[in-house]
Amino acid sequence: MSNQAVQLTEEAAIPAGANAYINVYADILRSQLKNMADAFWKPTAQKSLRRFTSGEVAKLLGITDTRVRQLSIEGNGPQPEVAPNGRRSYSLADIHALRAHLDATTNTGKRFSPRRSADEHLQVLAVTNFKGGSAKTTSAAHLAQYLVLRGYRVLAIDLDPQASLSALHGIQPEIDVGPNDTVYAALRYDEEQRRPLAEVIRPTYFSGLDIVPAHLELMEYEHETPKALAEGRRDGLFFARLQDAILTVADNYDVVIVDCPPQLGYLTLAALTAATSIVVTVHPQMLDVASMSQFLTMTGGLLDVIQNAGAVIHYDAMRFLLTRYEVQDGPQTRIAALLRNLFGEAVLTNVMVKSAAVSDAGLTQSTLYEVVRETMNRATYDRALESMNAVNSEIEAIIRQAWGRAA
Ligand SMILES: Nc1ncnc2c1ncn2[C@@H]1O[C@H](COP(=O)(O)OP(=O)(O)O)[C@@H](O)[C@H]1O
Ligand SMILES: [Mg+2]
Repeated sequence: MSNQAVQLTEEAAIPAGANAYINVYADILRSQLKNMADAFWKPTAQKSLRRFTSGEVAKLLGITDTRVRQLSIEGNGPQPEVAPNGRRSYSLADIHALRAHLDATTNTGKRFSPRRSADEHLQVLAVTNFKGGSAKTTSAAHLAQYLVLRGYRVLAIDLDPQASLSALHGIQPEIDVGPNDTVYAALRYDEEQRRPLAEVIRPTYFSGLDIVPAHLELMEYEHETPKALAEGRRDGLFFARLQDAILTVADNYDVVIVDCPPQLGYLTLAALTAATSIVVTVHPQMLDVASMSQFLTMTGGLLDVIQNAGAVIHYDAMRFLLTRYEVQDGPQTRIAALLRNLFGEAVLTNVMVKSAAVSDAGLTQSTLYEVVRETMNRATYDRALESMNAVNSEIEAIIRQAWGRAA
């Protein structure tokens, strides 16, 4: 691909040939995107996280607002910022510190820090489905952030070359992600270039959430894997490479969330092999359900092949999550009922409702957990947040169950 920016004037003839056409448009769009990014997004600009009110902190910790205020008045634990109107606000790092402080000063064991112990295995949740737009990235981002707010140490892996999860976390693939900066660096077959996963993990502004960003470069894995298979390479079979890479950093995390690409390629198969649980996002519409049926059939077949080749795949749970659900919509309700009929408890009880709050937040590359309630229609925001929290807390319960804890 040429890197020259192309100026399209009336005289400029578009070169013949399909690839030339595509290159022209790619160059135009890339340079335009760069201009827009330069205008709106200063290279030095860092995304930052808002602060949390004492009411929000109380809810997150499961204690009363009065107790939070009391701690602050007594000068006990991390201290909030106090605005002239007396309102207290906490950073996310303060909230983590408050959890540690409460565990250290109360006799309730590890009630406030839910981190896993050595005998509780790392949870790797793959959010998947080969249908684009089924809210994989939205679900993955909200789940990752929710778990961090609840006190877990979370690694998010962006496995989609389109890098939406990275962008949502303030990492622009075209600008901020260099060659060999994605998970591909840890998966690649050429040893000289390979990097330990730890080297491509970045901390985010969302304290406690680390991310491995994506970039188009990830596509290399789809091209290189068949070559490696054709060469009959035996070292580290393709499906186990992600699992192996994740295990090298397991000690630092409780949960790993993998945002899968919208196709059933080698990347997705690697994620399905690494996963300890699977969340299949499904928008309850006939076309989407038909496509999911193909997805399940093909995935099942491929995982059989992989298992016969020696992979050990064991899932704690496999769940279907209804996304972008319009409860008032007749056809959607019927399809949701059909899925519940067919799959029973594998369909999560809670649904992610369709909401302008989610898509509006998405426009500014934010989640519901990042936006400030006051900047939105409050009723809309509250409904969306309630639905998102209900989904995420149901998934949290699955994680805790896998650890043998009481929900
Ligand atoms: N609950 C929701 N309500 C409204 N819009 C949503 C919701 N969930 C996702 N979206 C929007 O749908 C689009 C596709 O979602 P996305 O998470 O990117 O899907 P995928 O990763 O499966 O391709 C995005 O524009 C997103 O903002
Ligand atoms: Mg996506």
